[in-house]
Amino acid sequence: MTKETTLEDIISLCKRRGFIYQGSDIYGGLSGTWDYGPLGLMIKDQVKRIWWERFVDNRSDMYGVDAAILMNSKVWVASGHVGGFADPLVECLDCKKRFRVDQIVDENNYLEKINADFKEWKSATNFGEDLIDPTIPRDLKHDFANHSAQENVLKEINDARKFTGPHAQYYLNENIDCPNCKKRKWNEPRQFDMMFKTNIGAIESDENVVYLRPETAQGMFVNFKNIQDTFHPKLPFGMAQIGKAFRNEIAPRDFVFRVREFEQMEIEYFTNPKQADEAFSHFQKEIKEFIQDIGLDKDKLHELEIADEDRAHYSSRTIDFEYDFPIGRKELFGLANRTDFDLKAHSEGSKVDLSYFDEETKERFIPHCIEPSFGLDRTILAILSTAYATDNIGEEERIVLRLHKNIAPYRVAILPLVKNKEELVNKAKEIFEMVKNIATKNGIAKSKIVYDETQSIGKRYRRQDEIGTPICLTVDFDTLEKGTVTLRDRDSGKQEVVSIEDLENIFA
Ligand code: GAP
Repeated sequence: MTKETTLEDIISLCKRRGFIYQGSDIYGGLSGTWDYGPLGLMIKDQVKRIWWERFVDNRSDMYGVDAAILMNSKVWVASGHVGGFADPLVECLDCKKRFRVDQIVDENNYLEKINADFKEWKSATNFGEDLIDPTIPRDLKHDFANHSAQENVLKEINDARKFTGPHAQYYLNENIDCPNCKKRKWNEPRQFDMMFKTNIGAIESDENVVYLRPETAQGMFVNFKNIQDTFHPKLPFGMAQIGKAFRNEIAPRDFVFRVREFEQMEIEYFTNPKQADEAFSHFQKEIKEFIQDIGLDKDKLHELEIADEDRAHYSSRTIDFEYDFPIGRKELFGLANRTDFDLKAHSEGSKVDLSYFDEETKERFIPHCIEPSFGLDRTILAILSTAYATDNIGEEERIVLRLHKNIAPYRVAILPLVKNKEELVNKAKEIFEMVKNIATKNGIAKSKIVYDETQSIGKRYRRQDEIGTPICLTVDFDTLEKGTVTLRDRDSGKQEVVSIEDLENIFA
């Protein structure tokens, strides 16, 4: 019977077996940063390779790019990130700990309360409907009777909706205890800019501020014209990029789920606006197929259609692909229709024409953009937590990572039964070389075959189970006498004796 996997189980395994370590570990760590060890990196590389194969190599309409992380700050002004990429931050006045407001309140309860306050305000005042911003959906208008002069109401409605301002503070002070010290004394929540700033050049000044990119996407929008000019692609076509992104998260947490430095795999797929819905559906299907390529469980994936008022400013439709993690159901990937927002914004910002001319229809227009966005670190967490299991082989309890063979760091481990018998060790090393050559013939890298002779055979099986190696190949005395080896299956623990000649089919 497999017990429920916790995040702590995964973190402990990752450290013990060399998948992922705390960033800057020997200095006490750096919050929101994690370092991938050899085995974590092997999984990450495989995921990137599989992603790139599906979305770039196996298509003829996709252009790969690797844009600079540091970009001209005008990019982030045009994209709406400068001044607009922020999270609501609140500080406990007692213990001074800071939290993201939307993470310490129950969102439904919060909005319900704000709605109720607004209704009360309306009935307690003579202010007509004309004083209320018609762009705010009726059910989201709030009552600020006790906390605000009439002229401030609209601003407070908008602020409270984003979990900031005096009304959000009022709500917190009425309802929420500090998760750390349990007191209820909050400052006024404000928007906290999530972009990391630095300066370019020798002198620090406001003139030379640059930002570490918070998403890889913009590196593609700013190269739209370059790709058009050099490759002359016809719509629809896409650009793909894998790379680091940085966000100064207020509360990084849940291992690699919410971090300050992470990797994204993103596609910006440009279409005629008339074909945008079709492209959206295409990628919706592709995402579901991709998760199976990497051994994720399709029954743990859930599509969440994001409501109008909750979507990012650039999106006309967004689906969050959520996954059942040990920490609950959370966003894994996103799929958005970014319309012509970005190309238009960069056309205006740069004064460079980013339109497209359709030779057939003789129409000139700004293409619309469908964006599937994949967080790589969350993918790794999903992979590890899906694969992690505990079970019994005979009497013995073990931890096993049931990784898809395409993802496992190693495909086969070669184990001499004991390491103090020279003939056995020599034979095992010979077979190691042989299996590496068979791997190469099957398009599998030599590094996917590992040789392991330290500790007892039982301990080595446990170790290979924990790192997800699908097959252990044991070289024993029968190998010397009869030319056979034992293949042990990771998932069932079953052992099968096969002749050395049959190893040609080991990857079949
Ligand atoms: N270009 C669109 C974009 O960046 P997003 O929803 O902000 O959209 C896309 O991010 C994906 O990046 C998320 O679905 C998630 O997988 C990953 N991601 C975002 N913030 C993250 C963080 N702080 N830590 C780890 N992954 C993150």
